Amino acid sequence: MKALIYQGPGQKVLEDRPIPEIQAATDAVVKIAKTTICGTDLHILKGDVPSCRPGCILGHEGVGVVERTGAGVTTFRQGDPVLISCISACGKCDYCRRGMYSHCTTGGWILGNQIDGTQAEYVRIPHADTSLYRIPEGADHEALAMLSDILPTGFECGVLNGKVQPGNTVAIVGAGPIGLAALLTAQFYSPAEIIMVDFDDYRLQVSKRLGATATINAADGKIAETVLQMTGGRGVDTAIEAVGVPASFNTCEDIVAPGGTIANVGVHGSKVHLHLERLWARNITITTRLVDTVTMPMLLKTVQSRKIDPKLLVTHRFKLERILDAYDTFGRAASTQALKVIIEA
Ligand SMILES: NC(=O)c1ccc[n+]([C@@H]2O[C@H](COP(=O)([O-])OP(=O)(O)OC[C@H]3O[C@@H](n4cnc5c(N)ncnc54)[C@H](O)[C@@H]3O)[C@@H](O)[C@H]2O)c1
Ligand SMILES: [Zn+2]
Ligand SMILES: [Zn+2]
Repeated sequence: MKALIYQGPGQKVLEDRPIPEIQAATDAVVKIAKTTICGTDLHILKGDVPSCRPGCILGHEGVGVVERTGAGVTTFRQGDPVLISCISACGKCDYCRRGMYSHCTTGGWILGNQIDGTQAEYVRIPHADTSLYRIPEGADHEALAMLSDILPTGFECGVLNGKVQPGNTVAIVGAGPIGLAALLTAQFYSPAEIIMVDFDDYRLQVSKRLGATATINAADGKIAETVLQMTGGRGVDTAIEAVGVPASFNTCEDIVAPGGTIANVGVHGSKVHLHLERLWARNITITTRLVDTVTMPMLLKTVQSRKIDPKLLVTHRFKLERILDAYDTFGRAASTQALKVIIEA
């Protein structure tokens, strides 16, 4: 089969690999139909994720059809259409029992990181019963590919941790796929205002289409001033950090209202100063989270019932043979206006 292999920082290649085999009774092998590229794959290629060793097949998102199952898999059979969670979970360890799948002692985020991932024709999924989700009849498979990672990430790490409430004021700093996923799912709770902040005017335009009540281009350096103006000097009840750099976290500190929450979503590669000298008396909460995908069944229903349409985030489509072009397009998002690229295996 064809597979996209990480070869070390800055290097990747599309290569032939053997089709994966069942290794444990709880495994399934899934034939990939559609996969996609995540900002985190770019982090790996920069060398930011040392747990990912050269030789690993990248990718932790996708939908496909079950090809084979181990003897211990009871929920899925050959031919079942499935959505793959970016998080593998045994369902039995202490963390899984608490709904913290991301910290599963024999799983977590391993796909396309510590074990071969989904940017290939086939993938082996450990703990298949609790890491795959059946695709309902008639569902849009491209829309569901957005559920493997970005929708649950925006929702769990941003919206749920950020305690978005009816009538509240929300700011989302970073309008990439994750920030936009937070924007879509924040609207489940009918906040009064959702302010999107980014440097990229195209992404801000998209934000407006997807429900933002206001947008701020971060380039003018007056984000905090503008947000305070928009909120009568209070700031926002929820500030969602969806970038992963010190500047965007500091923006959240500047705009959070007394009693509010900063929900960090971004993956941070360097130290961030925490301004407790300004925040100590403001009764705020700061949260962090690695996505658990524990809300997958609920998100599947909201997509099925068309409460949200994550397909709006798909901007480009490529065949697996052209995945290097897909990486190039996705990697130059500012000039290509790419959000999510679908790769068809
Ligand atoms: N916590 C988790 O489990 C989890 C899961 C998946 C991804 N992530 C992380 O979420 C973050 C966002 O992912 P993405 O795919 O949307 O990334 P992305 O790079 O596509 O989007 C980030 C956006 O932030 C904007 N930006 C950059 N600096 C900014 C600043 N100072 N102020 C405002 N906007 C700024 C960029 O223009 C860009 O549009 C990444 O760090 C990613 O690794 C976290
Ligand atoms: Zn991801
Ligand atoms: Zn577990």
